Amino acid sequence: MSQTGILKGKAAFVAGGTSGINLGIARALAEAGASVAVLSRSQEKVDGAVAELRSVGVGALGYAADVRNEEAVAAAIKAAADTMGPLDVVVSGAAGNFICPAAAMSGKGFRTVIEIDLIGTFHVMRAAFDVARKPGCSMINISAPQSTMPYWGQAHVSAAKAGVDMLTKSLAYEWGEYGIRLNAIVPGPIEGTEGMKRLSPTDEARRAVEDSVPLRRYGTISDIAEIALFLASDQSSYVTGTVIACDGGQLLAGAGLFRPPLTTRQHIR
Ligand code: HXC
Ligand code: NAP
Repeated sequence: MSQTGILKGKAAFVAGGTSGINLGIARALAEAGASVAVLSRSQEKVDGAVAELRSVGVGALGYAADVRNEEAVAAAIKAAADTMGPLDVVVSGAAGNFICPAAAMSGKGFRTVIEIDLIGTFHVMRAAFDVARKPGCSMINISAPQSTMPYWGQAHVSAAKAGVDMLTKSLAYEWGEYGIRLNAIVPGPIEGTEGMKRLSPTDEARRAVEDSVPLRRYGTISDIAEIALFLASDQSSYVTGTVIACDGGQLLAGAGLFRPPLTTRQHIR
């Protein structure tokens, strides 16, 4: 990455930062010079991410916790700030996803995704507020195209991510007076991620997605990390309350894409 050193001396916390897009963001923040703490449920994934971040040459910390657990999130964020100092950058990207039409979904299934994606994000932002650098902190939430466009079998995700967008704007509005900026990123379909493995598992489905993207390709984890780096740095010091799509123009293409024909739905319970 060309941004070496722009976050030197800064402290960053990435919730859900142990795989995929969020780990790519954590790595980009580390390569830009920040110390980085990550949090997710699996101790094994946490240990792997911390080792990867330390190999970049910065300080790294890791916490095994579930974002649904408010106390555990608050304890991890406080512990990270006690060691690294007030947080300059906070990223909230933990999320859960499965395809399930609403008529087949249990209340618990719906609630699970709301609790991880939306309430979990509130837990992260709220705890980070107490130990954020004021003024100066940049908070970044990871949303999804489902926040503005309904996909078939994604009512739970759409509801959760729409909430994430409005939470981002609401907190940007309230916390601007503390000098805290909040923005969200909407990744499009990103290569080599758990999310696309779940939503687009076959070659045929992948081709349909690529055809629907005006730029005619999946995005890369690095595409998203570059936006996060911009939002984390002083280059975006007057940008707050925005939801930035990095999706190859996919949102221009409409919602029909993720409505599979009846004949291809058998594998979905
Ligand atoms: C219907 C399902 C289901 C499925 C789970 N549930 N999977 N319902 N179809 N395929 C229901 C269960 O039946 C249960 O309700 C409830 O959800 C909770 O399930 P658990 O397995 O107990 O939950 P938990 O162990 O907390 O796991 C959460 C999870 C899991 C979301 C279900 O998949 C997970 O941990 N995911 C994290 C990784 C991930 O999803 N990454 C992708 C993020 S990508 P009942 O009533 O039966 O007890 C993304 C957006 C991508 O978010 C956008 C791309 C454009
Ligand atoms: P991923 O690799 O599954 O990343 C999810 C991360 O969150 C993992 O580190 C996971 O680790 C953690 N996590 C999940 N549930 C958690 C919980 N309850 N508490 C704490 N941590 C939890 O998925 P991804 O595809 O890269 O997606 C990352 C983000 O980008 C998500 O917010 C997703 O909605 C968004 N997004 C992805 C795409 C895409 O194309 N992939 C498109 C649009 C938006 P543990 O399993 O250890 O908890």
